[in-house]
This record gives sequence, C-alpha cells and structure tokens, in this order.
Amino acid sequence: MTGTRPRIVVTRWIPDDAMALLHETGEVWSPDPDRQLPADELHRVVAGADAAVVTLRDRIDGDFADAAGPQLKVIANVAVGYDNIDVPALTERGITVANTSGVLTDATADIAFGLLLSATRRLGEGERLLRSRTPWSFHLGFMLGSGIQDKTLGIIGLGQIGQAMATRARAFGMRIAYSGRRRAPSEVEDRLEATYLPQDELLRTADVVSLHCPLTPDTRHLIDEAALRSMKPTAFLINTTRGPVVDEAALAEALRDGVIAGAGLDVFENEPEVHPELLELDNVALAPHLGSATVETRTAMATLAARNVIAVLSGEPAITEVTP
Ligand code: DGY
Repeated sequence: MTGTRPRIVVTRWIPDDAMALLHETGEVWSPDPDRQLPADELHRVVAGADAAVVTLRDRIDGDFADAAGPQLKVIANVAVGYDNIDVPALTERGITVANTSGVLTDATADIAFGLLLSATRRLGEGERLLRSRTPWSFHLGFMLGSGIQDKTLGIIGLGQIGQAMATRARAFGMRIAYSGRRRAPSEVEDRLEATYLPQDELLRTADVVSLHCPLTPDTRHLIDEAALRSMKPTAFLINTTRGPVVDEAALAEALRDGVIAGAGLDVFENEPEVHPELLELDNVALAPHLGSATVETRTAMATLAARNVIAVLSGEPAITEVTP
C-alpha cells in the first residue's frame, strides 16, 4: 500500500475493465484466477482491506469482517443473490454491502427459458442420443416432448428476473401465474397478464414452475417432497435461483418415479456437486450455474461491483446497496 491509497481485495478473477477501475482507485490484491480461497486464507488476505470484491462462493460474515479490521467499509458481491453474506453482521459493524442487481436480469432469464425449452422438448436427451451413436430414424412418435403454447408458467418470485422470464414465456404463448411474499404492482400484473395465486394453488395448477425467489431461511427446501407431490405429473420444474431452494434428493426421486415430468436446473444444493441420481436421469436438463455467464453480463456485473466500491470509498452510497 502506498500513501493513503485504499487496499482493495478481489477474491476471485473478475473481467479486466472492472479490475482497471479498481487499480485507478487503490492498491488491489487478487489471487490466482483459478483458485477459490479457503476461509482461513481469505481471512488472512483481507486483513487491512478497506474494500472487498467477493463472489457467491465466499462466506462473508462477522468473522470475515473482524479479520479485515475496523477500516473495512464495503463488500461488493459480484452477484445479485447474497445468501453468502451475513448482511446484519456487516451492517451492524458499519460496513456497506452491495450486490449487482439489475445487470444480469436478461441473461439469467435467457438461461431459465433455455432450460424450460430444453426440458420440455428433450433437447439434451436428443443430443446425448446422437452423441452415443445410437441408431435412430424419424417417425411420428419419436422423442415426443411437451408443447408449451397455452400452458401455464407458474413463477415463484416475480422480481426482475421472474418478470423477464414471464416476458419470454408470453412471447412463446404461455399464460402467467405467480406467487410470492407480496403481490406485484398492478402495472406489472397488467403488462404480463399475470395472475396472483397462493403458492399451493400455483404448484397444483402450473404446467411449468420456475423459481426466482432468493434463498433465505424461509425458502430453503421450499420445493420439498410434499410440494413436488402436489404438482401435476405432467409438470416441469425450473431452478435458476439457488440450489437449496429445492430438496435435491426429493427432486431426484420425483423425477425417477414420474411424480413430475421433468426439470431444468442451473443451480444445485451442494454446488459444484450434483446429486448423483440426477446425472443418471434423462428427464432433467442440467447446466453448471451459467445464468449470468455471458461476456457482456459478467463485465457489467464486475464493473458495477467496482463502481460500488469506488462510490463507498469516496464517501457516497453504493449504487446497488443491500439492506438487511
Ligand atoms: C447471481 O448473481 O446471484 C447468480 O447466481 C450468479 O451470477
């Protein structure tokens, strides 16, 4: 550290544009791009930091803040979800927490809708069939999937990403129902022609259920065995939020036993592990947490995180501050 330039710790690789902004602002420390720092090392490197740019794999809590020291002013999470951060523990120490809400909405909804199509139209299964060099020939009953036109998409959590998912589904001719902690403004309901339903009714009636609620103590295992059993046997489940919102063992069993027809998953309960039974099943489309993984989106996310750091270090509020 030279003079009074702030010390900024970046825990994992971020795109160059964002790194350049941080270098203009302070003395930046970052590890080898491919290394996920274990907690003890993270606590060592953060000592003396004024700011930290972190990812969803880092556990950021009171111990992290204490290891950093009282000069720590801001944690910028390069993610919209912040279940990796104990927000009250940080804010009570006067540390600002920021996320990257708003810049990954479309990219994440694209992957959610891609998984919806992949699951309902058996795209992954078809590709695996070809790659296995299994003989096949076109006939009218070959690999039939489920059409989505005039079917109901049930969205749990009609926030920014849920709304973007609804917009895509509407363009494909689906009807929209949603549930959530509170009702969306009438302008949103009108624009999406979305019907608010209690969650049990949504689960019972939707043809596809897509999860867009954050992971909180209330939403952990929101989709458990009972929820799966309440869904139609022809229904599909899409999860692009956080793995633990779904009881993965119960889901694997439901998919195996035909309790529901299929699923599309971008996130997993014990990431990066995937429940071994899911890997054996053809009626689940899988992606390795790709929701925000485009060059444009990751650049926007990291740049927003850098701007959040710069704002707070300049004495201004973060642009996308998270409050407890
Ligand atoms: C997020 O931002 O929360 C996504 O899961 C990763 O981009």
